[in-house]
Amino acid sequence: MDYKTEDNVQEAFSGESRANRRYMVYAEKAEKEGYPQVAKLFRAVAEAEMVHIRNHLNVIDAIGSTKDNLLAASIGEKDEFTSMYPIFIEIAQKEKNDRAERSFDWANRVEKVHYTYFDAAYKDMREGKQPAEATYYVCQVCGNTVRDNVPDKCPICGVPTKAFKKVD
Ligand SMILES: [Fe+2]
Ligand SMILES: [Fe+2]
Repeated sequence: MDYKTEDNVQEAFSGESRANRRYMVYAEKAEKEGYPQVAKLFRAVAEAEMVHIRNHLNVIDAIGSTKDNLLAASIGEKDEFTSMYPIFIEIAQKEKNDRAERSFDWANRVEKVHYTYFDAAYKDMREGKQPAEATYYVCQVCGNTVRDNVPDKCPICGVPTKAFKKVD
């Protein structure tokens, strides 16, 4: 007999993950439109979806040690900029979908940065070292993720410093 529950847990994890992120974006929109109560509702439900996500991941033992998780994260980021986004960009170009092309291109370039950070942290841990202390800032336009020093202008999308948000 084929067991389907593991696939179902994966599917539930994907669906909840999408809902969680979508609700956070909806909350930002509600704030902008002047509905703080609706924003709060979206954030509350997103928080609950996060609980479901964690539970589902635990069911399939998908959360490893931090060292393992850094390796998994670096592999995932690398996969995005080596196989996924390059193909998506090519297709968007062929279909002349400039908005999609730009969105993919920004993500593609930022995933390389993410890979570098994860890979370095993984290597530190593999050598038994605690990764160095750092402050991270994220460009709210393209997602570029910088350490310690915010550039005058985002090197990926060109927006000024104020578009970078510090991560706590
Ligand atoms: Fe990434
Ligand atoms: Fe940027």
